[in-house]
Amino acid sequence: MKHLRTFVSFALLALAAGVLTAPVAAEPRVPLPTIAKGMGDQCVEPLEVIRRDHMDFLNHQRDKTTHEGIRTKQHSLTNCLECHTSKDDEGNWVPVNEPGQFCSSCHTYAAVSMDCFQCHATTPE
Ligand code: HEC
Ligand code: HEC
Ligand code: HEC
Repeated sequence: MKHLRTFVSFALLALAAGVLTAPVAAEPRVPLPTIAKGMGDQCVEPLEVIRRDHMDFLNHQRDKTTHEGIRTKQHSLTNCLECHTSKDDEGNWVPVNEPGQFCSSCHTYAAVSMDCFQCHATTPE
């Protein structure tokens, strides 16, 4: 009888522990990349929006520029670099697509490959 009681309380404990740890199990199991914060107070779009839709803004902007000759700053690629490129200890710009830099930190993590920087500048200057 004592054995059974011990078993029952153990089972209850395990159940309680299971319930308590359940929300934790829903967290991502892989470490997320560290992403440098951009300069300035905020991005050109709200954070959730730019995170999800930045590729669409860029592609749209490209079409507007190359097809209609419209140049605006908000979604231009050079504008991104103004805030998302950093300098090394000697004060030189670090290309934004180098490992660990802003654009690549996420893309490497998400296994996104993009060819944009074969043509486009990777630093603001
Ligand atoms: C083969 C070369 C090439 C590649 C690859 C390329 N572009 Fe471009 N892109 C250009 C040229 C040329 C222009 C026109 C330049 C201009 O008029 O400023 C342009 C213009 C743009 C513009 C509008 C101007 C600006 O600076 O905002 C955007 C945005 C843009 N491209 C985004 C992209 C993105 C995003 C990718 C990757 C998915 C990409 N491009 C890949 C050559 C390229
Ligand atoms: C005026 C400066 C500025 C410009 C220009 C800018 N950003 Fe940002 N961006 C920021 C800041 C600051 C944050 C962080 C916002 C926060 O943490 O609330 C950010 C956040 C982001 C994030 C989310 C990063 C994360 O932690 O998840 C992405 C993606 C991004 N920017 C892409 C872009 C792209 C693409 C462009 C060009 C179309 C651009 N940004 C232009 C300042 C800028
Ligand atoms: C917060 C993480 C994050 C950051 C930071 C980030 N990206 Fe992305 N990017 C993604 C993800 C995730 C995708 C793939 C989305 C998909 O496939 O639907 C992507 C896709 C893209 C694409 C489309 C690639 C293709 O050919 O399909 C372009 C262009 C792009 N990002 C440009 C940039 C630029 C430029 C920067 C730096 C200014 C940047 N991204 C920073 C997460 C990020």
